Amino acid sequence: MTIKIVIGSDHAGYRLKTKISEYLTNKGYDLYDAGTYNTDSCDYPLIAKKVANKVASAEYEKGILICGTGIGMSIAANKIKGIRAAVVSDTCSAKMSRLHNNSNILCLGERIVGEELAKDIVDIWLMSEFLGDRHAKRIAMIE
Ligand code: RB5
Repeated sequence: MTIKIVIGSDHAGYRLKTKISEYLTNKGYDLYDAGTYNTDSCDYPLIAKKVANKVASAEYEKGILICGTGIGMSIAANKIKGIRAAVVSDTCSAKMSRLHNNSNILCLGERIVGEELAKDIVDIWLMSEFLGDRHAKRIAMIE
């Protein structure tokens, strides 16, 4: 199974983005890196918008955004219609954000989660499927 994933970070998430990108590429995922491409200071809203637009347009099925905390990325990404970005720092929330909320962007904080936990979160988020049914009605209410 290969789904198309777009990933992005600001300078504060660059190192974790590099690790997660290597991890997913080694697993065979079709990954596009939307930047940033170094640790020079940059503005997370620009990267969030770029990634969110690629998911909202269905060019990519899912997105991953990483900044210092994941919070700024999620606030910015959720401004784009059709985006359901979830800031996650534990595996249970990763799973539930898919099952109940049909999250289409995962936001991580490099200053919050370690590399191994981040990999577990990404794995569980990617393998968990939206339950639909009553949850679909609620998603429609948000839209
Ligand atoms: C950058 O210092 C930091 O503010 C940013 O990465 C992010 O954590 C914002 O939410």
